[in-house]
Amino acid sequence: MESNVLQTKAKLTQEQVNSLNASLAGASPQKILQWALGEFHPKIALASSFGAEDVALIDMMVKVNPMARVFTLDTGRLNQETYDVMDEIKGKYSMEIQVMFPDHNTVEKMVREKGMNLFYDSVENRKLCCGIRKIEPLNRALKELDGWITGIRKDQTQNRQAAYYVEIDHDHGGIIKVNPLLDWKWEQVWDYVKQNKVPYNVLHDRGYPSIGCEPCTRAIEPGEDPRAGRWWWEQGNKECGLHVRGKH
Ligand code: ADX
Ligand code: SF4
Repeated sequence: MESNVLQTKAKLTQEQVNSLNASLAGASPQKILQWALGEFHPKIALASSFGAEDVALIDMMVKVNPMARVFTLDTGRLNQETYDVMDEIKGKYSMEIQVMFPDHNTVEKMVREKGMNLFYDSVENRKLCCGIRKIEPLNRALKELDGWITGIRKDQTQNRQAAYYVEIDHDHGGIIKVNPLLDWKWEQVWDYVKQNKVPYNVLHDRGYPSIGCEPCTRAIEPGEDPRAGRWWWEQGNKECGLHVRGKH
């Protein structure tokens, strides 16, 4: 890697990011994390839903820096199994997990007006719920940071195929977004989890490749698309807005 690239600080230019992505081509997730944590810690954190990708990243991160930071968006509608793995991870790595909750006034207003299960009624209601329970707390978490790390992979959705290892996140004030597992396949993630004895969400053993909120995620059948269980009653684009790019 070029040394001038390594010396960059908080806000990176698009040219620097392009050059970084070129120099990181083919790099391991650990190498990408080494760069990201070296450059931005403690102003960078992993956004973790505690799916297989995220627990693998946590294991890699603490091996690079035991003080590496993790936050999670607790929508209030997660599975018990997700809370269980959160506590297992917290115990195993002796780490603090920053739990972001939605604004209670906004949630109270939403369910008062639209009901507890509004997401099944329309795409508009589902996006409203994701907006209040996930996006607003994410925005709040990212305001404190110069960078965030995610577990997205290219083969998860069409939208994610256009992502890079390192991006300028224009939707969040131009901070850096780092996606170390972008090129990994599901099997590689799973091998890592098993080989390193990383605690994982037991729903993965029950037919859930992708785990979101309890009412909005189901197990999949053999041969189904891995994201078919997310918002299963909707057709098409299976994104909640955490990783959708605005037009810039
Ligand atoms: S989603 O946009 O469809 O909900 P997905 O479940 O694929 O996202 O997860 C992709 C990445 O988004 C995760 O690896 C993680 O970095 C982040 N993420 C998703 N859900 C959460 C959450 N509840 N809390 C924190 N980060 C999350
Ligand atoms: Fe609400 Fe479902 Fe989105 Fe969770 S996934 S925030 S419950 S609509």
